[in-house]
Amino acid sequence: MFAKTDLLAPDAILGLTKLSATDKREEKIDLGVGVYRTEDGATPVMGAVDLAERAVIKKQTTKAYTPAEGAPGFCEAILKLVFGPDSEQVASGRTIAVQSPGGCGALRLAGELLARNEAAGISAGAPTWANHKPLLAAAGLDVHMIPYYDVKTSMIDFDGFLASVKKLGPTDVLLLHGACHNPTGADLSHEQIDAVIDIAAERGFLPLIDTAYHGFATDLETDAYIVREMTRRLPEVLITYSCSKNFGLYRERTGAIIFAGRNPEQAAAVQSHIINIARASYSMPPAHGGAIVSEILHSPELTQIWRDELTTMNQAMRNSRKLLVDAARESGLGNQLSYITEQNGMFSLLPMTIEDVTVMREEFAIYIVGAGRINLCGVHGGNVGYLVQSLNQVLNR
Ligand SMILES: Cc1ncc(COP(=O)(O)O)c(C=O)c1O
Repeated sequence: MFAKTDLLAPDAILGLTKLSATDKREEKIDLGVGVYRTEDGATPVMGAVDLAERAVIKKQTTKAYTPAEGAPGFCEAILKLVFGPDSEQVASGRTIAVQSPGGCGALRLAGELLARNEAAGISAGAPTWANHKPLLAAAGLDVHMIPYYDVKTSMIDFDGFLASVKKLGPTDVLLLHGACHNPTGADLSHEQIDAVIDIAAERGFLPLIDTAYHGFATDLETDAYIVREMTRRLPEVLITYSCSKNFGLYRERTGAIIFAGRNPEQAAAVQSHIINIARASYSMPPAHGGAIVSEILHSPELTQIWRDELTTMNQAMRNSRKLLVDAARESGLGNQLSYITEQNGMFSLLPMTIEDVTVMREEFAIYIVGAGRINLCGVHGGNVGYLVQSLNQVLNR
């Protein structure tokens, strides 16, 4: 069976993480790996998660299977978090959720659901997260790239994006990012989101909103604008949600696929298909992460601790952005990187080529993903000087 099986190249992002781990150069700066890190490079368990986990273990009486839709209380709590406590979307019963193994699991379920419903294709703004295409194509979808971000101006090419969006029809799907676009950090403004909704209402395509950084841009309410407004104004919206970053539950593989439809009957029908697809794949999601999230969101005290921690993380990312831009300005790079403080979340894209990225890694021990994605969590007072000095040499060669 496997006599002729060839060895595949490692995944671009996971391969870089491995490479960085073996690099012993003292000046090394890892801006690659897509996890939140503190200044000393750690990704600690969040305090609220630690407390919730202890409570979950204490209450645990069985390891019997969880229900197909997920850990008890998880879906209801996630819906409340995403749509707000008093939303029509949830109160009407036209919105459902199914717990998934992380955001990746949710995207794969979404892909299979769309393929099952004969979606003509899915359009994604370029560049997008490196795993979007593999995940959605593996489910049988045709993934088309449309303009989104202009690397030359470091800004969203909104006219180019809209021109492509206007060509989509009722059998098409548009992949959108929730707050904190990966890899650019450049999010649509609320006005731009409204304009996309106007076109979706007219053309009838389905938005799929991939929400992996809820709470990392501004706050949980502001970041939910795209989901809340689209589901308020459009008849059908699919959402994939990851708890990896905002709850720091990366390895617990916790996320959800959410559908907001026309009525409770349609929502229940779509949920039955999602559960059916999951059953034919991994059966039901791992319970532990979902139980932790449910424990936090059902406790006002733990929710407050978690929200405060999110705010601290958020502020730290903003500080790193400012630190880099200020240091770049002083180093001779001028305003070349000033757009970075206008962007959101962990990532921004540096104006560089793949060759520049290789030089940064090989000559300067600075690890950057693809064609210039950096994780701002890796930038701090202790390394920003060396970083901008190296960037100056490479960008202005
Ligand atoms: C845009 C985006 N979507 C989805 C995911 C999936 O997250 P996970 O499967 O780790 O929950 C990620 C993770 O990096 C992401 O950046």
